[in-house]
Amino acid sequence: MKNIPPETTPFFARDRQWHPPAFTPAYKTSVLRSPQRALISLEGTRSEITGPVFGHNIIGEFDNDLIVNYAKPGEMAIGERILVYGRVLDERGVGIPGALVEFWQANAGGRYRHKKETYLAPLDPNFGGCGRTITDENGNYFFKTIKPGPYPWPNGVNDWRPAHIHFSVFGHGFAQRLITQMYFEGDPMIWICPIVKTIPDENAIKGLIAALDMNSTIPHDMRAYKFDIILRGRRSTLFENRKEGN
Ligand SMILES: [Fe+2]
Repeated sequence: MKNIPPETTPFFARDRQWHPPAFTPAYKTSVLRSPQRALISLEGTRSEITGPVFGHNIIGEFDNDLIVNYAKPGEMAIGERILVYGRVLDERGVGIPGALVEFWQANAGGRYRHKKETYLAPLDPNFGGCGRTITDENGNYFFKTIKPGPYPWPNGVNDWRPAHIHFSVFGHGFAQRLITQMYFEGDPMIWICPIVKTIPDENAIKGLIAALDMNSTIPHDMRAYKFDIILRGRRSTLFENRKEGN
């Protein structure tokens, strides 16, 4: 990559060649929400650099198990059982301990539990679709869930989102807050998605695709997908240009 700014601040500057441009007309809603004027660069303040700090006591016992965390006692969510795991790393490749990782997703049929959701696929009464966890001392995280389904969305006449899981990550500063999406290795829908196609660099797209990892499965139970997340830096996982994705 070219024109990388010097590393003179507490967090590396975001590389805007790596991240998608804000204005991408093929992704319709980007037209109205993209900036109309040149961006202004601001110095980070102390509160943005040093906070937030999360304790493990905020996490409930089943917060990282979406198969059961909204299910009735003795019941489970319907779908392909999977384990998602990886590391949260800083721009130098060092694991970030104590990072709050939150995730939300559609159910196995591609339906969200949300009052504005209109897709005709049925809700699963035992699936809420969200959870959270905190990274360990080496930046590792994991959670159990069911594989989300793809779903159509109102953009073009026949646009579908690939199966994906939304992530929010808080590192050691608000300046490291990251919202992104994880896709699944081998899914042909990734490469025809209008949102994915706003990303200019193929390697940046590949950084959003979790690898199937048959060495980390739970035998006779669930397959594993590995997804590492890099906060704020040259190799940073792509930052979405709005808080909630489709
Ligand atoms: Fe989504």
